[in-house]
Amino acid sequence: MTNLVPGTKFVVEEKVMINIGVLASGRGTNLQAIIEAIEEGKIEGRISIVISDNCDAFALKRAEQYNIDTRYINFKEFKNREDYDKKIVECLKEKDVDLVVLAGYMKILTPYFIIVYKNKIMNIHPALLPSFPGLHVQRQAVEYGVKVSGCTVHFVDEGVDSGPIILQKAVEVKDDDTEESLAKRILKEEHQIYPRAIQLFSQGRLIIKGRKVFIK
Ligand code: GRF
Repeated sequence: MTNLVPGTKFVVEEKVMINIGVLASGRGTNLQAIIEAIEEGKIEGRISIVISDNCDAFALKRAEQYNIDTRYINFKEFKNREDYDKKIVECLKEKDVDLVVLAGYMKILTPYFIIVYKNKIMNIHPALLPSFPGLHVQRQAVEYGVKVSGCTVHFVDEGVDSGPIILQKAVEVKDDDTEESLAKRILKEEHQIYPRAIQLFSQGRLIIKGRKVFIK
């Protein structure tokens, strides 16, 4: 039984469902994993909007296939990054978004955005933070010669890949791994831990104390 309550919150079987806003720039396989977890009833929420800075992002097409609202917002139409983020925040607010999920979103959020959604923005990173923040991290892991890499879901703060860690999953780096083969195995784990972290958030089970996230 699904009811609309004042605002745009959904109530399903007496549980308030969170509104999730996803920001994605690319192919959107993490978005797909989150959509599937929602369809399977694992997350107490729904995706209210998918926003992209890239009009060709396959993530937008995936969302449309599930009748999820999408927005492409062209960075070139704004004076600076903060004005761009203000527009995105406006769209998220219109949808009453409780949690912002970065799923392969290639822009760094401005402090304005982070303050508005403090402790309500998640990101997935394809390495075991704090090792290998930034870009091309699977390649860096292979070149460095680490034996273990993996993926990290974390809350987003003002730094780059530096916010409190929610979940991590280790992945072995094999002697014959290439950037591509390692990225593929890590991605498989990303698709497990990202929906799980969102599930925990939707159930109100993530408690942040300083740098640490405790799971109730
Ligand atoms: C993933 O590797 C994720 O860890 C990183 O960007 C990539 C996005 O992939 N932040 P996809 O668009 O979800 O397939």
